[in-house]
Amino acid sequence: MFKIIHAQFLAPGIKRFVIEAPRIARKQKPGQFVILRIYEEGERIPVTIENSDPEKGTISIVVQSAGKTTNLLNTLETGDSILDVVGPLGKPSEIANYGTVVVVGGGVGTAMAYPTAAALKRAGNRVLSIVGARNKELVILEREMRDVSDALMITTDDGSYADKGFVTDKLRQLIENGTRIDLVVAVGPIVMMKAVSELTRKESIHTVVSLNPIMIDGTGMCGGCRVMIDGKSQFACVDGPEFDGHKVDFGVLVQRNSMYRTEELQSMEEFKRSQEAGHACVATSAEVQGAQR
Ligand code: NAD
Ligand code: FES
Repeated sequence: MFKIIHAQFLAPGIKRFVIEAPRIARKQKPGQFVILRIYEEGERIPVTIENSDPEKGTISIVVQSAGKTTNLLNTLETGDSILDVVGPLGKPSEIANYGTVVVVGGGVGTAMAYPTAAALKRAGNRVLSIVGARNKELVILEREMRDVSDALMITTDDGSYADKGFVTDKLRQLIENGTRIDLVVAVGPIVMMKAVSELTRKESIHTVVSLNPIMIDGTGMCGGCRVMIDGKSQFACVDGPEFDGHKVDFGVLVQRNSMYRTEELQSMEEFKRSQEAGHACVATSAEVQGAQR
């Protein structure tokens, strides 16, 4: 069991957990993630590591309520425990002195962009960060991103905070203003990473994206996280999660990520009903059926 030392909402539906996990905290590098499971029959989900403190033996993760498991996870509080936390998984971000790097964080993807931005800054890069969210309430880690960036630009889709627009509008402005950009790192929703990659492809700016396919074992054995890179199959859990954005087949990623949409919706509906009825039982019949298949 992994004890939650501190749990706090950063924004509606987005919660940060500081978890006691000394072995992971000692080994974790920017760009890596963990796979966790809340209870015995529960699904295994990959979650971004936002930070780690090797001395205290803790890691922080940031979780957005999306489906049943993330909603359930976000009901946990300080003092609760998580059954399994496996990691750190995936290849760390490639950190070097590239020159000027633009780090783009979209929504909750900012939590994964942050440690990479910090490491790129420590490596001597000029770090220009762009953080985008749907509205003011959903802007996360603004102070943290500002602390590790030479400049921080913020966009909101509805204009309720900072500049109205998408992160790509800011990136386009930088390009059009003639800013020299040696590398772009983008973490966020698939549509955003695709749009960033399309923009930079025209300018031949090397672009790294962090992919978030469905994952099960996280060790390259189950094939769940298969992605197409430059026409070849790769496994995001061991070959990634970071890949050259210009080589990613985003269409395949979208299609594979929606494979279990019906079961996910059914599971979420049952979860909501059990929460409303005040049941503590967390395994839904959709999961039981899935486990029996
Ligand atoms: P969101 O839908 O609120 O979008 C965040 C920002 O992305 C927007 O504010 C906008 O600036 C930009 N964006 C969205 N659509 C765009 C488009 N068509 N063109 C250009 N820019 C666009 O994001 P969210 O709800 O916080 O979801 C975050 C997503 O990030 C989730 O889908 C989650 O699975 C994913 N995620 C990815 C990783 C990863 O490793 N890649 C890590 C954590 C989260
Ligand atoms: Fe199973 Fe990657 S999660 S191969």
